[in-house]
Parts: sequence; structure tokens; C-alpha cells
Amino acid sequence: MKPTEEDIIEEQRHLQNVITTFQQYGPYALAANNRRRKDLYSLPYADQQLLEGLGFKDKLIDIDRAIMANEFFIQQMVANPEIFGDDEDMDEDMDANEEEPKGDEKGKGKSSSHSHSHEHGGHSHSHSRPDISNPHSHETPKKRRYRPTDFDMDKLRSTLKQFVRDWSVEGKVERDYCYEPMKEALLQHFSSVPEIQRSKLRVLVPGAGLGRLAYDIARLGFSCQGNEFSHYMLLASYFILNRTKRVNEHSIFPYVHSLSNIPNRDSLLREVKIPDVLPSDIPPDSKFSLVAGDFEEVYGAPDLEDSDEPQAGKWDAVVTCFFMDTAKNVINYLRTIHRILAPGGVWINLGPLLWHWENNTSNDLSIELDLNELKALCCKLGFVLSNERTIDTTYTNNPESMLGYVYHTSFWTATKLEDEQLNRPLVETSNKTEV
Ligand SMILES: C[S@@+](CC[C@H](N)C(=O)[O-])C[C@H]1O[C@@H](n2cnc3c(N)ncnc32)[C@H](O)[C@@H]1O
Repeated sequence: MKPTEEDIIEEQRHLQNVITTFQQYGPYALAANNRRRKDLYSLPYADQQLLEGLGFKDKLIDIDRAIMANEFFIQQMVANPEIFGDDEDMDEDMDANEEEPKGDEKGKGKSSSHSHSHEHGGHSHSHSRPDISNPHSHETPKKRRYRPTDFDMDKLRSTLKQFVRDWSVEGKVERDYCYEPMKEALLQHFSSVPEIQRSKLRVLVPGAGLGRLAYDIARLGFSCQGNEFSHYMLLASYFILNRTKRVNEHSIFPYVHSLSNIPNRDSLLREVKIPDVLPSDIPPDSKFSLVAGDFEEVYGAPDLEDSDEPQAGKWDAVVTCFFMDTAKNVINYLRTIHRILAPGGVWINLGPLLWHWENNTSNDLSIELDLNELKALCCKLGFVLSNERTIDTTYTNNPESMLGYVYHTSFWTATKLEDEQLNRPLVETSNKTEV
């Protein structure tokens, strides 16, 4: 379905709000730290002295410094947000009172109708999008700049932690739990294909986050495409994949934003260097791309006759990591995966069931299944699950925090039954999840 003009303007507005969030990080985070300072000064003098004796005030100064280092990094990501051919003037057109769409994944449903790709081919990355110049701009009076909410800032802080997971030495433990079994299963499934011919196999990684799993799969020699719709992730992955000059080029302080459950100062002020590898350091003939857009819209829409890139049966493998529970209606995700898999193709999955849209405040549909129901549904929709197991893993965890979550994730590989192997025809894919 072609995006309407309204969709395009909405997406551009959302992107600009995300960029503004990046731009406002410094003042926002410093103000939050200043609140601590103010509270300190509101204490009786004797109590202030007590805390002074613990070095509390110095700690606040160190936090400011760490925030400023984060700020330096974050500003580089939006210095030239050419990822979508950003229109700087848009910034001024934002109404400070204009709220972002509500909901956990706000603005996302709209973001996908047109896709943008970052191609890794001989290390050049192309970025394209349709012309989205605002036809009404001459009618719109200049408005004030968008004011990021705490929700926006939380997404940005999570993006910093996501960098640790995907692109740091410290993230290796987590990656080994999540990405290694998936890569092993992929190699296992295609063990009869000689390494030299792997580039003929097309692997899709929906919900690619900052792109490390897709990148690692491309490094194994497969043709790999990541798909992602969050502008936070897209801006960040674009920067790390396309703008990195050397290993450990950047320093970030991802754990500096909350003083809760911190055992000591070092764990609060822990510096993480990124990236642990040089992203451009992949074989020149590697085929690696990232496509921006909503998974269902990019891959689930029925292929038109004149379609540039028909999707049905085109993918030899689909690899989903912490992704299936982002669905509003997981039936659509499953149908899409089934439809795009080639005969003999494999779907490799690892993840929990933290349904992202449960209890949303935006009246979005949300179908939450338990694991047994999900697996039964997979079978009904034409998958044969094998290699099932539970893998315990963290997700963007601060390993030194006094609080830690461990997900008991479900892992499986699934192969596709063809329509004729099922007792009934598969229902045609429907793309309409919104009510
Ligand atoms: C929990 S994260 C997992 C990221 C990555 N796979 C990893 O393991 O680190 C889920 C990702 O899926 C993305 N996502 C959610 N719904 C999506 C959709 N409909 N289309 C494309 N990406 C989506 C989110 O923006 C987020 O980056």
C-alpha cells in the first residue's frame, strides 16, 4: 500500500521529534542531575556535610561529566541525519504542544510504508527515500520546537544500552547467549551448502535493533538484510555502521542515568567503548543491508505484479531475536514469515513473550498468547518446530546492578510446510492489524 501524503508528513514529524530528542539529551540529563544537587542543598546543613564527607557532591560532578561525554557522542549521531534526507527546517515547524502519538511504539505503524536501505556492498551504503517535502509548509506558521517527553528520553537512554549489547566487548556475554545459538542453527540448517555459496542464501532479520546479529550473519557469508522501524535504532545503527573509523572510537556512559540499585561509584560511572569491531571490516563482496520500515508492511503486503521486490518465497531464512512479542497481532507476523520463506527455508527464533502492546494507552490492538498457544499457532499456520529449548539470558542488562532480569527465552528452529502439505489452504495474508 502506497503511503498517503498524511502518512509521509506524520513520519517526517516523528523522525524530527526523535532528532530533537537526541539534540535535547544534554540539557535534559544535566537538569535531572541538577535536581539531585538542589535536593542536597535543601537538606539541613549538618546533613549536607555528612553527605559531603561521602563525596556525594563530587559524584554529582562526575555524573555531569559522564552525561557530557554521552552528549558528545549523541550529537554526532544527529549531526548529519541524512539517513532519511532530514529537512532541518522541520525542526522549527514543530508545535511544542503537539503531542507524539500515544502508545508504546508511537509513530511506528506509520513509519514503514516506504522503506530506506543501508546497503553494505563493497562498504558503500545507499540511503534512499521518496520525496517527502512538505507541500503545506508555506501555509504553516513557524511553531515552537518539540519538547521531548521522559518517554522519548527513555528510548534514547535505552539506545545507549543497546549499543553495549550489540557493539561492545562488555556485550559479548549477552550476545553469546542470544546470537550464537541462532547463528549455529543457521549454519547447521545449511551445512550442506559450501561456504563459498552461502552468499546465495538470503537471510532476513526483522526487528534488527542496532544491527549486530544481521551484521554477524553477513560476516558468515550469507546475504543478510536487517529490518527495523524505530528511528532511534535507525539513526544509531546508521551512525555506527557507516561512520565508524576505528575500533573503540567512542566512549559512552550508559548506566549514569539512574542511581538506583548501584553498588558503587565505578559501576555507575562505567565507561563502555564502542564498537568492538570495525563494521566496515567485512568481506568486500558481503551483502548486508538494513531496510527501514514496519515488518508487516514491507514484507507482508501482497506482491503486486509490477512489484520491484516481490517477497513471497524469497527468503531462505528468517531470524527473529526478541522480536515476536513486538506484534500487535502475532498471527500476522507468523503468516508473513511463512509467506516469505522459500521452500526448505528455516525460521530461527529466540525470545520471551513480553507483549509490547499489552496495556497500551493508544487503543491499539494487542493479542497476547502464552507460549503453548503460540507454538500451537505456529503449527496451525504451517510450521514444524524443532530444536526447541529454553535459553536463559539478560537483555541490555547492567551486569553490576543490584537488580537484574533474566528472561527464560524460548528457542526453536522451524521449517515451513507447503500449502499442499496442510489440510487446508492458508488464509491470505492480511495486513490490517489496526482497529
Ligand atoms: C526487543 S528489540 C530486539 C532488537 C534485536 N533483535 C536484539 O535482539 O537486540 C525489538 C526490536 O524490534 C523493532 N520492531 C518492533 N516492531 C517492529 C516492526 N513491526 N517492524 C520492524 N521492527 C520492529 C523495535 O524497534 C526493536 O528495535
